[in-house]
Amino acid sequence: MDRSPRIATAAPQPSASPSALARRFEEVRLTSRALASPLSPEDCAIQSMPDASPTKWHLAHTTWFFETFLLAPNQPSYKAFDPAFKVLFNSYYNGVGDKHPRSERGLLSRPALSEVLAYRDHVDAAMQALLAEPLAPEVLALITLGLHHEQQHQELILTDLKHMLSRNPLRPAYQKQWPLTAVEPRKRSWIRIAGGVKEIGFEGDGFSFDNEGPRHRVFIEDFDIASNPVTHGDFIDFIEDGGYQRPELWLSMGWDAVNTRGWEAPMYWEKRDGQWHTFTLRGLAPVERNTPVCHVSFLEAEAFARWAGARLPTEAEWEIASATAPRDGNFLESGAYHPLALRDATPAGVPAQMFGDVWEWTRSDYGPYPGFEPAAGAVGEYNGKFMCGQYVLRGGSCATPSSHIRDTYRNFFPPDARWQFSGVRLARDAR
Ligand code: AVJ
Ligand code: FE
Repeated sequence: MDRSPRIATAAPQPSASPSALARRFEEVRLTSRALASPLSPEDCAIQSMPDASPTKWHLAHTTWFFETFLLAPNQPSYKAFDPAFKVLFNSYYNGVGDKHPRSERGLLSRPALSEVLAYRDHVDAAMQALLAEPLAPEVLALITLGLHHEQQHQELILTDLKHMLSRNPLRPAYQKQWPLTAVEPRKRSWIRIAGGVKEIGFEGDGFSFDNEGPRHRVFIEDFDIASNPVTHGDFIDFIEDGGYQRPELWLSMGWDAVNTRGWEAPMYWEKRDGQWHTFTLRGLAPVERNTPVCHVSFLEAEAFARWAGARLPTEAEWEIASATAPRDGNFLESGAYHPLALRDATPAGVPAQMFGDVWEWTRSDYGPYPGFEPAAGAVGEYNGKFMCGQYVLRGGSCATPSSHIRDTYRNFFPPDARWQFSGVRLARDAR
């Protein structure tokens, strides 16, 4: 249970030469396997809730992506590993045909984990043969998309297996030793950001998802952004001040969720001997006051902000505020799989921890930017069709591969979701 995963760090680049892309392909594919290596076949098969998928399914679905979108159309000699996988491991692409129901992914004792790993070998070998040929730019771009897709699923492997392990009363650890050391408390401060007509969204060379563009103008007022994320300690104060019992702090949808689901603290919190503990990928641990809070929903983030006399930033504000913020942070490669202690905002006036540690909920609805057009064909279903009823999160988390994140990256989840490493950064209107 304690082998360290081998984690790749460089970003998959579409402009890279085919052989560089072939090496990158191997690295990313190996990282997924490494993440699964501390797990037993039983661990890999369970689905603990409809939103979460078994590790085995993630390993197969990411492979299915290359088989369906790269090998089937571009490699005439390619023979499917098992034709039944076309339906079994289709997540949501109606353009590809039938899908096995999402909520029944955990009922698949067959194929066995060993067969899924053999499926990966089969597709990896065929992909390496494809990568050895001269390829059109569109094909190279799709391979690159497949690698970024696999990195999204690397994060989901961790968040989904955390949920699965949390449902076991033994509170088993994915990795054992706790890496955290006691830290000095830091004080959060406000940083003034000048408003005006600004530009947000992706433009330029390198990879981005379609939902990050086009780059376009926005108008924002002057505002303040917090130097650091809200901490576990702040959230304890909110709880002790009756935060989960005061309807005036909550949106209607939030107050309904508090009552129907019995929320009294962030997900994974439990009291042992009168002390708040939280389940982590390293087992049950005391809640550390001086670390960013995680596993809160948009609805809880919103109520907390109201309690604190502040608000959530919009995604445009977040992106503008992140311009000078350091890109290094606590990502998947740190192996902590948990947010680490608050860092100083250095140099003064530059927000800290915008990247890594926890995804930060924004007040922005996940919608299309002006001029957005999804790609033609089934792969156009990747992002665009989910632009309804979800909120944008920014910055990546301790489960995100570091080469996966960008300042323009838009993650999205429904307002009541809390099993991702999602946290809060406050903003307020300039006054
Ligand atoms: C961006 C994390 C919401 O979980 O469906 C995986 C990522 N897209 N396969 C999701 C994704 C296609 C996506 N999220
Ligand atoms: Fe997917």
